[in-house]
Amino acid sequence: MASPKLLFILCSIVIYLFSLTIAQNEPLSNICLNDKGNFTANSTYQANLNYLLSSLTSNNEIDYGFYNASYGRNTDKVNAMALCRGDVKPDTCRSCIQNSSLQLTTSCPTQKEAVVWFDDCMLRYSNRSFFGNMEFGPYVWMYNLNNVSEVGQFREVLGELLNNLTKKAASGGPLRKFATGNSTTQGSPSIYALMQCTPDLSEQECVECLNNVTSLIPQCCDGRQGGRVIAPSCNFRYEKDIFYDSTVATPSPSSSPASQSTASSPTKSATQRGRESSLSQTVVHIAVPLLILQYLSSTSALF
Ligand SMILES: *[C@@H]1O[C@H](CO)[C@@H](O)[C@H](O)[C@H]1NC(C)=O
Ligand SMILES: *[C@@H]1O[C@H](CO)[C@@H](O)[C@H](O)[C@H]1NC(C)=O
Ligand SMILES: *[C@@H]1O[C@H](CO)[C@@H](O)[C@H](O)[C@H]1NC(C)=O
Ligand SMILES: *[C@@H]1O[C@H](CO)[C@@H](O)[C@H](O)[C@H]1NC(C)=O
Ligand SMILES: *[C@@H]1O[C@H](CO)[C@@H](O)[C@H](O)[C@H]1NC(C)=O
Ligand SMILES: *[C@@H]1O[C@H](CO)[C@@H](O)[C@H](O)[C@H]1NC(C)=O
Ligand SMILES: *[C@@H]1O[C@H](CO)[C@@H](O)[C@H](O)[C@H]1NC(C)=O
Ligand SMILES: *[C@@H]1O[C@H](CO)[C@@H](O)[C@H](O)[C@H]1NC(C)=O
Ligand SMILES: *[C@@H]1O[C@H](CO)[C@@H](O)[C@H](O)[C@H]1NC(C)=O
Repeated sequence: MASPKLLFILCSIVIYLFSLTIAQNEPLSNICLNDKGNFTANSTYQANLNYLLSSLTSNNEIDYGFYNASYGRNTDKVNAMALCRGDVKPDTCRSCIQNSSLQLTTSCPTQKEAVVWFDDCMLRYSNRSFFGNMEFGPYVWMYNLNNVSEVGQFREVLGELLNNLTKKAASGGPLRKFATGNSTTQGSPSIYALMQCTPDLSEQECVECLNNVTSLIPQCCDGRQGGRVIAPSCNFRYEKDIFYDSTVATPSPSSSPASQSTASSPTKSATQRGRESSLSQTVVHIAVPLLILQYLSSTSALF
């Protein structure tokens, strides 16, 4: 006969696996920019948006997981950009972008501008052109509920690792600005980290963007075993266990030029409001007055 303890463990495993399944198809965050204008139902803008989203992943080019396109004319022009995590396979990438399209058109039915982040990809669209713009906001942070024991040492090693990876990601070239790595400092706990910029940024802009998001660590994740900040132009994540596919080789930068429109000033707005969580127990979303969303998670795998 199974002991209560064993039953408890089995139940926990089932709940854990179940929540993993949910977490996979659940966006990390989904933001409808309410102040950037609305379109009306059945408008040309909506038709252009739907066309653009369906065409985003229909070309079979594997552009290292970066898609950008525009469709329409004058005030009905729609711009979209999608970025997959650098270690995600093309099939998963396409699937993630398709899911993102559905997620945004469902949850932001009238907004001209919206952004969604999943674990595997990001999708954003707007009536304004954002190609080549470095944008920090809106951003979202999340942290692992578990703490580290040696905070001072951890902080130091993490800072060095992220600094190293910032340079590596930024120098990735016009196709992919992505880096992963682990600290191997003797006598300190291991740290695994991932950093990525949209490849339309210049090397310098990527460095600046990553410096900007990592400067949020004291607020978001100090002393935590894991943390991440996701923004439209760049993001990072770190954990004490490996969470990325380290077998994916980084492509060597090719000669194809980056799209580099003349940069307009970066958007600084940190948006938005919170929403009800369907993942009570595993992921809790809290809206704080600073207009930043915090995500809490009790396990790093769900994080
Ligand atoms: C986008 O739409 C908003 C609201 O309708 C409008 O104010 C803005 O000028 C538009 N931007 C562009 C680039 O068309
Ligand atoms: C757009 O629609 C949303 C939701 O219906 C609303 O909250 C928002 O105020 C509207 N924005 C503008 C600029 O009209
Ligand atoms: C939009 O088009 C659909 C399908 O053609 C129709 O059912 C719906 O009533 C239209 N909505 C508006 C606001 O015109
Ligand atoms: C991104 O879009 C811009 C504007 O349409 C275009 O000039 C550029 O070639 C695109 N870049 C990539 C990498 O697709
Ligand atoms: C997209 O959604 C489908 C259905 O919910 C799911 O099976 C699939 O794993 C999702 N794709 C990604 C990359 O998460
Ligand atoms: C981690 O530290 C925070 C802040 O010091 C504390 O509120 C929290 O309870 C700690 N979490 C664990 C799992 O010990
Ligand atoms: C950062 O890079 C330097 C130089 O390559 C290396 O010596 C150091 O171990 C790295 N630090 C971490 C934490 O990865
Ligand atoms: C950690 O990094 C070292 C050197 O950078 C590498 O040899 C090792 O395989 C990495 N460990 C893991 C688990 O990726
Ligand atoms: C990010 O950079 C912008 C512009 O340089 C600056 O105003 C903002 O304070 C920075 N944010 C953080 C968190 O460093």
